[in-house]
Amino acid sequence: MTLENIKELNDKYFVNIYTGRYPLCFTGGDGVVLTDISGKKYIDFVAGIAVNSLGYNHPALLNAICEKAKSVMHCSNFYFIKEQSELAEKLCQLSFGGKAFFANSGAEANEGAIKLAKKYFSKQGIKKHKIITLENSFHGRTLAMVAATGQEKYQKPYKPLVNGIMNIPKGDIKALEEAIDDETCAVMMELIQGEGGVEMMDKEYVQQVRKLCTEKGVLLIFDEVQTGIARTGKMFAYEHFGVTPDIMTLAKGLGGGFPIGAIIASEECSAFEPGDHGTTFGGGPMACACALAVLDTIEKGHLLASVSDAGECLMSGLKALEDNYSSTLKAQGMGLLTGLKIDKSVNVGIIINQMIEKGFLLCPSGGNTLRIVPPLIMDKKNIEEMLAALDQVLESIEKENESI
Ligand SMILES: Cc1ncc(COP(=O)(O)O)c(C=O)c1O
Repeated sequence: MTLENIKELNDKYFVNIYTGRYPLCFTGGDGVVLTDISGKKYIDFVAGIAVNSLGYNHPALLNAICEKAKSVMHCSNFYFIKEQSELAEKLCQLSFGGKAFFANSGAEANEGAIKLAKKYFSKQGIKKHKIITLENSFHGRTLAMVAATGQEKYQKPYKPLVNGIMNIPKGDIKALEEAIDDETCAVMMELIQGEGGVEMMDKEYVQQVRKLCTEKGVLLIFDEVQTGIARTGKMFAYEHFGVTPDIMTLAKGLGGGFPIGAIIASEECSAFEPGDHGTTFGGGPMACACALAVLDTIEKGHLLASVSDAGECLMSGLKALEDNYSSTLKAQGMGLLTGLKIDKSVNVGIIINQMIEKGFLLCPSGGNTLRIVPPLIMDKKNIEEMLAALDQVLESIEKENESI
């Protein structure tokens, strides 16, 4: 089958929601390199949008998958699941957690986290049901998460939205103070808004949010779907901010490419009782074995240190680009969750297409931002090569703009 055939089938039979797909179809992957249907190789700085933590064809993940495929690939939650118990222990021990629950995606984990926050209060006979999230956030595509996602473009087709969820300006502690009332049950936020342009929260603001939530008896949920699992150079991004949430959600990088979502709650907030929540697939042996393999590889391979190191190299290169070009560029993010915000004079899509020609995969994020979220095993040599290519692309675009 050629790329043209695949494209024709897609256009005829697949829902028309992923517009502007890049003209690529990958048939091979190894380490940080993807090979497309024509045999051309690309260094991957997308990683399935911060998902493929260990890159491609990683022996630890292959072993986990093959072993479970040969034994018990799926098992109902009617029964005990060894890998589920082990993964729950591991994630709780790595974090502040008392109990874990496993879902299949980020949105599903966030839905569960909201249900858990509501249950925490209803169990005590307290009537609190309202949820506060931030503008420019992204929490997923389910109905409730569309309401939680503070971006009009995701909400517009689905109005009226699920009740009881309000989006307030980010970084504005006064706005939060005013928004919290006696019925507020939780605040949910990202520490770096990955889809919203790789926008980092201010440390002081996050600490104020924590303080306010504690004072007002409101639960704090960190959505670490994109920031979690070593992406920022710490296992969880909250560790950079000197605060601990009551509930945290994970997904993306946790399974290294195999779908899994997780809710981690402090012992006190682990309010679910039998029958309150559940799933057919979530927490199955295959997904949990993959997540265990990812966590084990991060630990044994000292990936936290290498992500920090690679992240510093990436950030200093991006800052150098920031200084070099007259168009306004702004480097943001941390670790291997970084972005280069680009002013409106250059469409980020043009840069991405030119980088594809040079053999590097990058992806967009909100606000005309170039997002750089490679596998956690990306080394500095590849980062420097990508930065050099990006420098050439920016230079040629600048020259072209000058000649117009
Ligand atoms: C912070 C955050 N939360 C939730 C989600 C939704 O995750 P999923 O697409 O797995 O439902 C995403 C996806 O990009 C995300 O970045």
